[in-house]
Amino acid sequence: MFGREKIEYKTVDQVRTMRRAGLVVADALATVRSAVRPGMTTADLDALAAAVIGDAGATPSFLGYHGYPATLCVSVNDEVVHGIPGTRELLPGDVVSVDCGAIVDGWHGDSAFSFVLPEADAADVALVEATERALWAGIAALATGERLGDVGNAVEDSIEASAAADGVAYGIIEEYVGHGIGTSMHQPPDVLNYRTRERGPRLKPGMCLAIEPMVTRGERFTQVLEDDWTVVTDDGARAAHWEHSVAILEDGIWVLTAPDGGAAKLGELGVTIAPLDV
Ligand code: MF3
Ligand code: CO
Repeated sequence: MFGREKIEYKTVDQVRTMRRAGLVVADALATVRSAVRPGMTTADLDALAAAVIGDAGATPSFLGYHGYPATLCVSVNDEVVHGIPGTRELLPGDVVSVDCGAIVDGWHGDSAFSFVLPEADAADVALVEATERALWAGIAALATGERLGDVGNAVEDSIEASAAADGVAYGIIEEYVGHGIGTSMHQPPDVLNYRTRERGPRLKPGMCLAIEPMVTRGERFTQVLEDDWTVVTDDGARAAHWEHSVAILEDGIWVLTAPDGGAAKLGELGVTIAPLDV
């Protein structure tokens, strides 16, 4: 999508502003996570997130983006990403991905998580956990790697390891990818979730990237529904999606949309974060 277009390198002050946006997004997602119950509609979740973002004095970034009509994307079961909140009631055992973006003083944050509602199928839980592990493996590669391609290698290796451990085959979506983020939600470079021959640009301080693996219990192929937004798996397999916005700084990385900056999850992987003072 972005080829060799120019990457926006951020100053430390700009990253501090992006952290503020990231924390608003984290707050909105945490509010949704603690409130969600079977019987709620996806529009109910959207209203909760909109209130948190509004109360923080921030702006939802999805609303109006290419005409997108909501604050969140809520994608259920075979929906991978870009599900539009509405009258759909969440049911026990549903696999739900919630994606949120916000703007503070012109700077963006973007993050998503997935979960399974109670009466969960163990295989759905395994999918969600495998996708989250792949997210953190990809983020860790920003600290330990040299080139952007190291992220895709790490995500794919993590998913393959989980598939072997879970005794299943997972599909990694290729038609949608992560992205640079800053004064716009989507900017160069593309961040692939799979291995390619391209090593990609060198990882450098000032880069801010949204890492977002999308993984299914079936094949990797997708379609877009009649609403022109909702991306579903071709084979009807359930999908999960996790995302964080991450800054690369002189001394290390900082997960802008994680309340703890990524300290806990990256610590498990032997990576120490390098947060700025705020
Ligand atoms: N958050 C999505 C992403 O990670 C984009 C949402 S599309 C929108 O790239 F239209 F809803 F904004
Ligand atoms: Co994104």
